[in-house]
Amino acid sequence: MERIAVYPGSFDPITNGHLDIIRRASRIYDKVIVGVLCNGGKNPVFTPEERVCMIRSVTSDIQNVEVDSFTGLLVEFVKAKNAAVIIKGLRTVADFEYEFQMALLNKALNPEYETMFMMTDTKYSYISSSMVKELAGFKGDLTGLVPASIINKIQEKYK
Ligand code: COA
Repeated sequence: MERIAVYPGSFDPITNGHLDIIRRASRIYDKVIVGVLCNGGKNPVFTPEERVCMIRSVTSDIQNVEVDSFTGLLVEFVKAKNAAVIIKGLRTVADFEYEFQMALLNKALNPEYETMFMMTDTKYSYISSSMVKELAGFKGDLTGLVPASIINKIQEKYK
């Protein structure tokens, strides 16, 4: 049986921290499906299509990665994709409490699904999408924070 995992998030925009998790997960699972949340309450800067497009472009060299967007419950997306694993990245202790609660909630919604946590690489532990956007707003240098190939795309939003 194919081991399919879903890596969900807002990805507004994708960062090098997210990409690191995707690469590492792709070595563990047969297929990793990156799920871009459309209906989050975060007032995203990038449309779901833009986010999906950026993620596809920076993961095009990874054979077993797919990218799709979803609305509604994560467990429904996991079901629709025939997956059984939810991957989440943990950066700091601060992430843990929220992620623990989400994992338990998703477990209550569907006990067949497991949430697997991956520790972020220390060099990415301070990166977040909000920080990238704030920096871009001040015309700061995004080198090393997001994949080089999408820096222009992000900067365009803040012209
Ligand atoms: N590297 C860098 N940044 C990372 C990271 C990593 N490895 N892992 C997480 N982050 C950052 C993100 O950049 C983001 O930063 P921001 O807050 O500055 O934007 C932050 O951590 C949170 O990530 P986000 O992608 O917004 O995910 P989330 O943990 O808030 O959860 C879903 C998103 C899609 C998983 C969640 O909202 C969900 O499941 N929604 C569907 C509805 C549902 O089923 N809800 C549960 C039952 S009610």
